Amino acid sequence: MSISYVNGRYVPHREASVHIEDRGFQFADAVYEVFALQGGRLIDEEGHLNRLERSLGELAIAQPMSRAALKLVMRQLLRVNRIAYGSLYLQISRGVAPRDFAAPQGLTPTLVMTVMRQKPFDAQAALKGARVITAPDIRWKRCDIKTVQLLAGVMCKTAAHDQGAAEAWLLDADGFVTEGSSSNAWIVTADGELVTRHTDHAILGGITRKTVMKLAEHNGLKYVERIFSLDEAKSAREAFTTSSTVMVRPVTHIDDAQIGDGTCGPFCRKVIELYGAYMKQDTST
Ligand code: PDD
Repeated sequence: MSISYVNGRYVPHREASVHIEDRGFQFADAVYEVFALQGGRLIDEEGHLNRLERSLGELAIAQPMSRAALKLVMRQLLRVNRIAYGSLYLQISRGVAPRDFAAPQGLTPTLVMTVMRQKPFDAQAALKGARVITAPDIRWKRCDIKTVQLLAGVMCKTAAHDQGAAEAWLLDADGFVTEGSSSNAWIVTADGELVTRHTDHAILGGITRKTVMKLAEHNGLKYVERIFSLDEAKSAREAFTTSSTVMVRPVTHIDDAQIGDGTCGPFCRKVIELYGAYMKQDTST
């Protein structure tokens, strides 16, 4: 069994718990990050910590400790678990207080972390594509903040799984794809340009998304950040999703439409290769 971290203590996972009046539990008044772990390295650690600090700032939740201290705790948790491949989940809630919509000032934030063991990233296995369904984007209007208020994503992802698909791509009122329920959405145009929606309050600015853009730029792949419609996505040359848990995953079908020849295309294959190599080198930790 793994060891988790709860407010200063390293505890067996089954004993890891927080108070029932934690505002994360009652109001989803909490933010989180998921870090991929490959070869003992936390991929894009600084990018995730930057986003975490931004999420905390947007909600005026206090930072439980300095970034340096947080990094020490994360490393200690990896050490006690003797884990090198998988992911680290980190959540910070505003803290514990008698239930009241108005957020009290001066609470001590709750900090928890868990780890999950997984197989090393396998670029060959990653070529296997997945189907996505589409669903109306019924989330709130601040999807740029990485909060634990994820019920719409839960509903859409569950519907996807019920229909034998891996992910749901969410559509805004005008029929444009915003992102996946827990990933960013990409298409490749006929002339080989990678397209992903620009960031604003409607989507989460994915860290993997950002790294893929950087890798594209350094390796001669064209990309653009703009909106794209479901119709454009369905007739795209290729499509794929990115996140810290799936890394890069080809999309073979959107609803009933086959994308390209229904397998991982050359552009997505290149992105998988580049991302796989990047994770072996990333020294941001
Ligand atoms: N989710 N968009 C949404 C709505 C997400 O929940 C995620 C990640 C992403 C991709 O972000 P990143 O590349 O930084 O992981 C985009 C995580 C993995 C989760 O909730 O498990």
